[in-house]
Amino acid sequence: MKRLEDVAVHDAQDLYYPTMCTVSQAKQVTALEKFYEIKMPDGQDLGHEPGQFVEVSVFGVGEAPISIASSPGKKGSFDLCIRQVGMLTNVLKNFEVGDAIGIRGPFGKGYPVEKFLGKDILIIAGGIGLVPLRSLINYVLDNRSLFGRLIILYGAKNPKELLFEDEIADWKARDDVEFHITVDNGDETWTGNTGVITTLIPGLKLDLDNTIAAITGPPVMYKFVIMSLSSKKLPDDQIYVSLERRMKCGVGKCGHCQINGVYCCQEGPVFNYTDIKPMEEAL
Ligand SMILES: Cc1cc2nc3c(=O)[nH]c(=O)nc-3n(C[C@H](O)[C@H](O)[C@H](O)COP(=O)(O)OP(=O)(O)OC[C@H]3O[C@@H](n4cnc5c(N)ncnc54)[C@H](O)[C@@H]3O)c2cc1C
Ligand code: FES
Repeated sequence: MKRLEDVAVHDAQDLYYPTMCTVSQAKQVTALEKFYEIKMPDGQDLGHEPGQFVEVSVFGVGEAPISIASSPGKKGSFDLCIRQVGMLTNVLKNFEVGDAIGIRGPFGKGYPVEKFLGKDILIIAGGIGLVPLRSLINYVLDNRSLFGRLIILYGAKNPKELLFEDEIADWKARDDVEFHITVDNGDETWTGNTGVITTLIPGLKLDLDNTIAAITGPPVMYKFVIMSLSSKKLPDDQIYVSLERRMKCGVGKCGHCQINGVYCCQEGPVFNYTDIKPMEEAL
């Protein structure tokens, strides 16, 4: 018979020990970002919710939280898209198909998609913020008849930083997706909208009782996007944000990710705006 202590040790191992997975696709998509498809051993599913993250590790180098970029509907593998900024991510940029990579998770709270059923979904993604939101977008597309309108606003600094260009072409072509894109600074190839992402919001016609907004982007973006949505009278409790705080363990033990006693790795990274609005430090 299993003793309680053994069960506890086993659970702790699940939390702290990486599962060794394999890179099954790898593609540099911009100067700084690389896309990876990851296969778990024996074709297991990761079993995540849209908006959750994993801890990615390379032995001898380190570990970092990374958002899961694919829908739970993708079976047998999952996607990551990683910006090369530091110790771990600069080693990962050399990882190719067949390389082993450590994965812990999925961790954190994702989007409460069951509350979104029947609603119009407004996605507002700035820069690499499209990565966690891609899991929600693809979840809505996998279950398209269960949701109302799917409106995607995506902004990047310049055309060279746009992620997922093949999918963008697909979203633009679909008549059940309303896709709007902007860049802060265009170049000679750019014929679309120029300006920050908030310039896309005034022109939107929203059903205010039935719209959920999901926002992810650089820290500076949240305040202005939320101000714009509030000026359209979208209620605060219909707004969700995903917060990237300095996380370490991912499982509520180290305290690195705390804001006013709230552990972002466990209570987030996805929060309803009403829950973090009173916390000045959060945005
Ligand atoms: C929930 C969550 C989801 C995330 N999802 C993604 C994702 O999908 N894709 C993605 O690319 N990133 C994501 N991130 C961010 C990612 O976890 C961080 O960028 C992580 O720090 C990268 O690890 P690293 O070891 O490569 O970088 P680190 O070496 O930790 O460096 C990170 C940053 O700190 C700076 N830095 C490092 N050392 C110093 C120093 N001594 N002094 C000053 N500055 C320093 C670096 O220049 C860099 O900007 C996510 C973060 C969270 C919390
Ligand atoms: S990352 Fe360690 S407590 Fe949240």
